[in-house]
Amino acid sequence: MIYNRGARKALTVADYQSYVSRKLSRDAKVFLDTGAGSDRGVLRNEQSWSEVLFSPRTLAGLEKVDSSIKIGGEQWRSPIGFAPVGALQSFHSNGESALVRASQDCMALPIIASHSSVPLSEIRGLAGSNWWFQLYLHKDRRLSHALVNSALELGAKAIVLTVDLPVVGYRDQDRQRATRSFQRKLPGQQNSSYPSLGFSNPDATRLPEHRRVEDSVLDPKISRNDLRDLIAGSDVPIFVKGVLRSDDALDYINMGAAGVIISNHGGRGLESSVSPARTLRKIRKKLGWEAIVMVDGGIRRGEDVAKALCLGANMVFIGRPYVWGLAAAGASGVQAVFEILEAELRSCMYFLGARNTNELDESLIWTSS
Ligand SMILES: Cc1cc2nc3c(=O)[nH]c(=O)nc-3n(C[C@H](O)[C@H](O)[C@H](O)COP(=O)(O)O)c2cc1C
Repeated sequence: MIYNRGARKALTVADYQSYVSRKLSRDAKVFLDTGAGSDRGVLRNEQSWSEVLFSPRTLAGLEKVDSSIKIGGEQWRSPIGFAPVGALQSFHSNGESALVRASQDCMALPIIASHSSVPLSEIRGLAGSNWWFQLYLHKDRRLSHALVNSALELGAKAIVLTVDLPVVGYRDQDRQRATRSFQRKLPGQQNSSYPSLGFSNPDATRLPEHRRVEDSVLDPKISRNDLRDLIAGSDVPIFVKGVLRSDDALDYINMGAAGVIISNHGGRGLESSVSPARTLRKIRKKLGWEAIVMVDGGIRRGEDVAKALCLGANMVFIGRPYVWGLAAAGASGVQAVFEILEAELRSCMYFLGARNTNELDESLIWTSS
């Protein structure tokens, strides 16, 4: 694998983060790293995984471990997928094409964002690969239908409806940039699949230009009826991303969703949302084992992946970590980040006495009682 010189020394996800924080423009760094308010939600997401502790099983007699998983009949090399992140060309000129390339090399699942930096048809290698499409419902539902149709024509295997961003999050650093008139568009934000239309948020004029484009397509009127329509009109599975409550999750499954992604949008929407790590076990308990439950937010180590599976996730997604890899070294950087997490996970499985991902269960999580 080819790394950039600086990235070659990166051994952990955190190394990639600090390497690219010196490399990215200030605009790109703020867009990527910050969250709602003063970033407390971003930090809490990571911290919550640290607070979960293992109760490792010893003398398990393991010769080797198998980190693969099966979801809906598909086999993946490891339970680590790539979350939808908009405008990837803001971080590397190969943007979404690099993500698709890395996903193929890692045998990992990518979710391609509605707000991709190039139209779906221009993403190299997309047709014919195994991918899911993330949908923000546009105020003009006809545009959403057209976008879903083009995703399906290009072979999307599932639709992921994001429900946790009715309006753009109130992000202090974005707003500071706007009021200081640092209103530049990042390279990846010029040619999204979605055109820009009207503003829903009265405060939108105080957002930087690229955030206003996003705000113009988000629709606070999104409701259960939209989810019902999407499920009724689709032949592919529908997943709901951005769920934090067990009653919501159960409703969506009862309405026909194939599963949920527990997420608070990486802390970018509501600063004080509960962190996904804390609510995962409760949601899994409410849904039982039939539904597919996935999680993202704050996963930075292979041990976090193992914790998520022990607490009931079928699979996890990473957002910022792979983008740090992308910014450092394109597709090979994405692959390197994936492989760091995978190696850490596999090492952790030996310590836990878990032969395969099915054996990562709740009994391995420490409780005081
Ligand atoms: C720069 C950036 C852009 C994002 N864009 C989208 C998006 O277009 N659609 C979406 O559903 N989630 C989006 N997300 C949220 C991610 O899908 C994911 O929920 C989050 O990044 C997970 O947290 P993590 O970054 O701590 O891994 C974005 C996140 C970041 C950091």
